[in-house]
Order: sequence, then C-alpha cells, then structure tokens
Amino acid sequence: SGLPRFNNHPVVDFTLEAERNAFPKSIAKVRAAAGGRVPLFINGQEVVTDDTLDSYNPADPTEIIGTVCQAGTDEVARAVEAASEAYLAWRDVTPEERAEALLKASRYLQDNIHDLCALQVLEVGKQWDQAHADVGEAIDFLEYYAREMIRLGSPRRMGHAPGEMSHLFYQGKGVAAVIAPWNFPLAISVGMVSAAIVSGCPVVYKPAGPSSCVGGKLVDMWKAAGLPDGVFNFCPGRGSVMGDHLVDHPSVSVIAFTGSMEVGLRIQERAAVVQPGQQQCKRVIAEMGGKNATIIDDDADLDEAVLGVLYAAFGFQGQKCSACSRVIVLDSIYDRFVERLTEAAQSVKLGPAEDPANYMGPVVDKAAQENVLRYVGIAEKEGRVLVKRKAPSEFTSKGGCYVPLTIVENITKDDRLAQEEVFGPVLSVMRAKDMDEALDIANSTRFALTGAIYSRSPKHLERAYREFRVGNLYLNKPSVGALVERHAFGGFKMSGVGSKSGGPDYLLQFLDPRLVCENT
Ligand code: SER
Repeated sequence: SGLPRFNNHPVVDFTLEAERNAFPKSIAKVRAAAGGRVPLFINGQEVVTDDTLDSYNPADPTEIIGTVCQAGTDEVARAVEAASEAYLAWRDVTPEERAEALLKASRYLQDNIHDLCALQVLEVGKQWDQAHADVGEAIDFLEYYAREMIRLGSPRRMGHAPGEMSHLFYQGKGVAAVIAPWNFPLAISVGMVSAAIVSGCPVVYKPAGPSSCVGGKLVDMWKAAGLPDGVFNFCPGRGSVMGDHLVDHPSVSVIAFTGSMEVGLRIQERAAVVQPGQQQCKRVIAEMGGKNATIIDDDADLDEAVLGVLYAAFGFQGQKCSACSRVIVLDSIYDRFVERLTEAAQSVKLGPAEDPANYMGPVVDKAAQENVLRYVGIAEKEGRVLVKRKAPSEFTSKGGCYVPLTIVENITKDDRLAQEEVFGPVLSVMRAKDMDEALDIANSTRFALTGAIYSRSPKHLERAYREFRVGNLYLNKPSVGALVERHAFGGFKMSGVGSKSGGPDYLLQFLDPRLVCENT
C-alpha cells in the first residue's frame, strides 16, 4: 500500500516545556468556548432538537461543558435511513479510498491533540497524561484499521485447481449502530466507528451522555476527512428513549457496543429478535465488564508492584473495564506489600484532573458517585477498610463528584466486592496461601478481561501464562493501558463477545465474505 508500517502514537513527554505549556493553554481555550449547543448530525446536516441534556464538569457540576441535543426515535429513524442510503455507494468504494478517509481523520486528531485532551479533562475529569493516551489511541485505531482494510481488501485466490479461478473477498455488512462508553471518550468511539466505516458500513453513533461533547468532535473529524453524507451520523440521546429503537431497527446490521454487562446482554437479546422487514441477521460486538485481578507473588519486585497496582486500580479513578479491582497477595509477602500499598495510597494527591499534581479526581457524574459510594458501604460490611481517603474539602465543597480512594482487605471469593464490577476507585485485597490458590481466586469470577502478575519466578510466570484465563494478561506490568496492535484488547466469558479491538480479526466482524468462482 506504500504506507509506512503501523506504529503507536508516542506517549506525551512532559519533560518538554512545550508539552507542559500546551495543556493549560488548551484548557483555558476550551473552557472559554464551552457551554454552547451541540447539535445532532444526520445525512450531512446539523439537526437541532428541543430536548437537550447538559454535560458538566464532574469537578464542578455548575460548569456546563455543552448543551447537547438529544435524539428521539424520529431522529434515529432518519439517521438509519440516511445510513442505509449511503451504504449502497459506500460499500463499493475501494478499500484504499475508505482507508484514505481514516488517514485524513488521523491527521485532524494529530493537529488538534491538545484541544481534544483539554475537552476530556473538563468533560470527564481525565488526567492530562491519560487524556493524551486516549487521543493517541484514537489516532492509532485510525492508522491501524486503515492498514487492516487495505490488507483485507485485495481478493484472495482460493485453492489451485486447474480450470477454475476462485476468489474470496469482503463486503461491508450494512448499517452499524455504535453505542459508546464515556471512559475512553474519544478512543473507543473512534475505534468502533472507524472500523465500521473503513469496512464499508455507514454508522449511526450514540455517544455516552457524560462524554457527548467529546463525541461531537467526531463530526468535525469526519468533516475534515471529507466523508460522503450519511456515512457518519451523530445521534446523542437518552438510552431510555432511543437506545432500544436503534438496536431494534430492522435496517441495522451490526451493533458495536462497549459498556456494562447489563446493557450488553440486553442488546444481544433484543438484536436476536427479527423485526418486520428485516433482511439480515444482526451481529453484535459487545465489550463488557471486568473484575480484574493482579497477583503479587512472594518474590515480586515490590517497587514495581506497588506502583503498578496503584495505577491500575486508581488511574482515572478506577473507571476502566481493565482496572485492577482485586489484588491477590501471597501469604508470605502479604504484610509487607499491603503496608507499602497503603502508604503509597496515603501519599498521592486528590483533586481536579485539571491540576496535574493530582493523582486521582472526581468520578464522571453524580450517578457514578452514588454507585461507588454504595459499594464503599458494602466494602465496610464485607471487609476491613484500610484506606478511605477523601478529597480535600476545598474541592468537595463545590459539589464535585468525589468518592473516597478505598482499599479494603479480608475480602474472600464469594463477597460482592470480589465478584461485582464497581467501576470506581475501590480495591479489594485478597490473601492466598500459595500460587495454586492465587490462580484459583483470580479465575473465580464470571468475567475474563484483564489480569496481571508480579513475580520473579519463571515457573510462576509460565503457569500464569497458561492458567490465568483472561483476554489480556500482563506479566510484571499493570493491567491497564493496552496499546493498539501490541496489546490487541478484549475479553471473553461475561466480559464480552467479539474479537479484540486493535487486533487483526476486528474488522472481519463488520464484513461479509463473498466468494466468486469462475470456470476458466
Ligand atoms: N483499553 C483500555 C485499557 O487497556 C480499556 O478499555 O486500559
């Protein structure tokens, strides 16, 4: 294809003064422009609705980041219709040309990276470095899937029988509904949307409510890429009003979803029902929850392990499906590890993400705050709370969505704190007498997303490789921060259906294979 080999976008380097200065400048700029109306975008046109929802800064809910128009069932119907119409031409555009659109979109993100980071800092409370990683991952998805479609795009000769020429090739399945989460507000949205679009599937995209302003940036991105009308449609809306309607629509062929297990299971159930007029079986790709464990072996490098667990459990307030929510510690090192982890957790600063000195900030909104506080209450009943650190009152008094950084010990396999995804900064500490028991505990949930082990023993690392059964396992590394291609991402069991995002099988889910055999 003549494209340079795929490489991940570099991580931000705060030793450079230019980087350090860019963030506050962009935050001030985005803040000054915030609060405007965010319209829908259907068939190449902005659409304004009467119903709107304010997206606010979780550190200070009185700061409105945008007033977001909300699609109802009529707008969803118009968007699906526009996408169906666009499909007829878009499916036959060459893979190279579709890939070109993604590369232009990537250029747009690269040119606007600091403003896009700033918007995440303000709208969802992402720390600077993590916001940068999120935009970097969005760029990676565009660059990677562009190359992947070019790879899959050339018809492949099948067999070698004389007297016939047999070719296998792919066509986009049809209209894709993309239902995205708020926690990686640009990366996961851009990943799912661009995979569909490059495969030839026009998209109706529903961002999550708390990150709808970041979601709206996809409109600018695809405009810059010059997509034909109807190939990308932006439909923010209340799940309770329009979610089912989008999933049930007879003209939707693919549903790409990332979010909670409850919603993912509901989507799978509804998508299995054939609606009047429906012409194809729907495919659901659902990335759901995790209850991820990190095992601390008795010979682990504790300097690495403490920092790794702290980051995986409390980075972005623990609001990652990949977050470490169970740390399983071998008996003989238990006291030493727990003491050091507790000390480290006591020493980090809490407060708004806007200030890079703060390690942990508020959770995304009031509903998330309520949910996490409920689990802190359960932690107090089920175990012994070791750390319950609140943000300073100068921040909490503004009504920000803060929850305490919480570490609880004496949690055992059947406790709710060992089985249910909290999606917040609540870490359960579990004790294991040996590696057998540690692996047994690690595998004892219905989820299988990520996992990690800190150990210096080659034998134990090899055992974990074979027996720690999760989608993404990290040896002597935190369980978060998967990079496109290098750490193709996704789990199984109740953590999801579908193949790994940022991996070589991902686009196939949006494609129908065709075979043409000619008698020569
Ligand atoms: N890909 C993210 C991570 O690895 C989770 O969605 O942290």
